This record gives sequence, structure tokens and C-alpha cells, in this order.
Amino acid sequence: MDRLTDFVVLVTGGARGMGASHVRGLVAEGAKVVIGDVLDDDGRALADELGKPALFVHLDVTDEQSWKDAIAATEEAFGPVDALINNAGVVQFKPWLKTTTAEWRRVLDINLTAQFIGIREILPSMLKTGRGGVVVNVSSTAGLQGFAAEPAYVASKWGVRGLTKAAALEFAQQGIRVVSVHPGVVETPMTTEVTEESYVAQPIPRKGRTAEVTALMIYLLADATYSTGSEFVIDGGAVLGPVVPVPLEED
Ligand SMILES: NC(=O)c1ccc[n+]([C@@H]2O[C@H](COP(=O)([O-])OP(=O)(O)OC[C@H]3O[C@@H](n4cnc5c(N)ncnc54)[C@H](O)[C@@H]3O)[C@@H](O)[C@H]2O)c1
Repeated sequence: MDRLTDFVVLVTGGARGMGASHVRGLVAEGAKVVIGDVLDDDGRALADELGKPALFVHLDVTDEQSWKDAIAATEEAFGPVDALINNAGVVQFKPWLKTTTAEWRRVLDINLTAQFIGIREILPSMLKTGRGGVVVNVSSTAGLQGFAAEPAYVASKWGVRGLTKAAALEFAQQGIRVVSVHPGVVETPMTTEVTEESYVAQPIPRKGRTAEVTALMIYLLADATYSTGSEFVIDGGAVLGPVVPVPLEED
């Protein structure tokens, strides 16, 4: 349990759901973790539970000054940042013709533009360590295929996939790895309304567990030293398409 000893990590959207699971998992591996979120009560409660290696900062990822303040607080508490997990996100299930421009912009702002701002603001801190760094951008299977009635979400998650590749090339010479993660349906507050229908035909026919995605995060931060710009899919096989029963041949 010491794969990330003294690694300094900022997790956006770290107060609940997958983000909170990552925070717990990273602390268990020896990291010092900053929970950045707009959910102050949940974020503080998690930081209190974890004690010294965790700090909550109020971070609205759409706000540039909020990033500057969060990074300053991180450096003051733990020193320069080794890794950023761009995890904060929102979903909007709404048909195209009913989606307003303001709703479209809000989803794009939180899910995509915020990742661009976050990388720009955190790079100077990462460069201070002299040992490179890692950025993990959370996309989705909605960044690999289309889904009806969630146009802004799909566009934002495809954008994350492209942004990741651009950043991976631009910061390679500084020793910064940038990768994207593409979960399928995972059991969190975001998916309480997702019905069984959407995953029963998957090769692994259940929702994913947050701990399964956290295990991937730890691998990406600690061990994936030969990967950058890559897409890491964790979806029970969902993007393969539905399982169709095939009778076994008899000899
Ligand atoms: N749950 C899934 O099935 C699933 C699948 C694929 C991708 N994802 C992605 O995984 C990430 C985490 O999702 P989750 O399922 O844990 O959802 P969640 O709703 O439980 O958590 C999202 C977190 O992001 C925070 N957040 C929202 N807006 C923010 C802002 N402006 N500034 C800072 N924090 C903000 C929320 O407060 C919350 O803590 C998201 O990017 C989501 O799109 C989720």
C-alpha cells in the first residue's frame, strides 16, 4: 500500500461518487490528496475522515480564480503537484430539441473547458517537482460512441478524448503524461436513474464499481510509465456491442 508515497494529487469532483473513491484509494497508497469540489459539506467530511493526508478546497472547475486558489492551497499544504485527476463532471439526459444553448454551454464548461483550464493552471506547479507529472482526464464511453438524447454530454466527452491527445503531445518533452479514462455505467449518484436495460446485454452485465475504476487510476498514476495520449476503457465490454447468444457447436 505504498505505490504513491508522498505523491501530491488534486482530484476534481472528489467529494462524492468516483472522485471520492479515488481520494480514498490514493490516500491508502500513501498519496497526499486535495479534494476539489463545489460540494463543501461532503468534501470537508471526507477530508476530516481521512485526516492529515487529505485536504478539502472549494473548487469550481469552471472558474479560473478558483483553480488558482486551489493550486495555491495545495502547494501550501503539500508542495507542488504530481498529478491531476480531471474527474468533475455533470450529465444531462435531454433530447436535442429540448436542450437550451445555456444547458449545452454549462455541460461543455464543466466537462470540457474546465479540463483545459485546469491543465493550463496546474502545469507550472507540476514543472516545479522536476520529476514530470500525470494528468488523467475522465471521459466516458460517451467519448467513444454516440448516445441519443444527451448531445452536450457526448460532445463534451469526445472533446476530452481530443484534448487529452493534444496535451499529451504538447507536454511530452516536460515528462508529463496525459491519458483519458472511459468508464461505462458505474454505480454512483450520477447513475441512480440509469436502468438495467442499458447494461444487461453487456459482456459483463452489471454496473461497474467505483473501486474498479480507482484501481485503474492508481495504475495510471503509479505504473503506466509507458502510456501517454492513450484511452483506457473500463466498461464491462459495453463498447463491443451487445452479447448475442451463440449456440455451442456439437462435435
Ligand atoms: N457514473 C458513471 O456511470 C460515469 C460513466 C462515465 C463517465 N463518468 C464520469 O465520471 C466522472 C465522475 O462522475 P460520478 O459518476 O462520480 O458522478 P457524481 O455526480 O457522483 O460526481 C461528480 C462530482 O463532480 C462535482 N462537480 C460538478 N460540477 C462541478 C464543478 N463545477 N466544480 C467542481 N466539481 C464539480 C460534483 O459536485 C460531484 O462531486 C464525471 O466526469 C462523469 O462524467 C461517470
